Amino acid sequence: MKHIISVKQFLDKKLLDTLCTSANDFSNMPLADYPQPLKYLTVATLFYEPSTRTRLSFETAIQNLGAHLISTENAAQFSSAAKGETIEDTTKMLNGYADCIVLRHSEVGAAERAAAVSDIPIINAGDGIGEHPTQALLDLFTIQKALGKIDGLKIAMVGDLLNGRTIHSLTQLLAIYDVELFLISPESLKIPKEYIQLFEKNNLAYSEHDNWDELLGTVDVLYMTRVQKERFKLIEDYQAIKDDFILTPGLVKKMKKDAIIMHPLPRVNEIDTAVDDDPRAMYFQQARNGLYMRMALLDYIFSD
Ligand code: NCD
Repeated sequence: MKHIISVKQFLDKKLLDTLCTSANDFSNMPLADYPQPLKYLTVATLFYEPSTRTRLSFETAIQNLGAHLISTENAAQFSSAAKGETIEDTTKMLNGYADCIVLRHSEVGAAERAAAVSDIPIINAGDGIGEHPTQALLDLFTIQKALGKIDGLKIAMVGDLLNGRTIHSLTQLLAIYDVELFLISPESLKIPKEYIQLFEKNNLAYSEHDNWDELLGTVDVLYMTRVQKERFKLIEDYQAIKDDFILTPGLVKKMKKDAIIMHPLPRVNEIDTAVDDDPRAMYFQQARNGLYMRMALLDYIFSD
């Protein structure tokens, strides 16, 4: 049985290659040819925080591979959590209905707590400001598919590096490659120290910046993120920095011709919609790649 809790389980280039190849195969396969490794199984999606892409791509992947789906899209409000049920009890109970649980929760460590009491696989679809492992895998797949490699790339991560769980997971994956990271954020949203310690331990080239003017022309990947308003205690602190990094067509002009612009989505205002038609804008393709990577992951869990 394989839980997917953290990207730490995937720090192996061979495994990552296998998953990217599998996701790529699914992207080229007609629907009628999809294997059915999940036939006669039931998968539950249990989301305590808002989601569009992660939930819908998982639910599509689950059904594409032959499983039944049971779902609660707003578990915080409509499940028994509203009556005070713990994640442990909900998990134990769902073990009686399903063969796998895809879980999104607002608390760091929630997926690990669920896994500790579960006899069926738990997939972490985001735990607060902790991790978002399946997003990191689809991000890696997107870079590999668009640029043909990971090693040697200059990758900038922009925005809320403090609270962005996609950043926390993706940087851990990238840290096993030979990449250079540029961490661009307002002073108050710098990446947590533990990630800096990891980069140093891995001898990774990295630098922190509060300005991107000199960098836009040099990077191969520009990974934009949303400032995570819901994680702020004071709205004034959010207001003060929410417009610090907004990508406009004028700024995109400074970028390399073959660079790519990524974003886990949803965007608020950090990428001007006028950028969407630029061939370097990869974020909607990235969202689509999420479907193929999640099929690859379910296939990986359930094919012996
Ligand atoms: C992200 C998330 O939920 O962490 N979205 C996603 O899953 N694609 C990013 C965000 O909310 O900003």
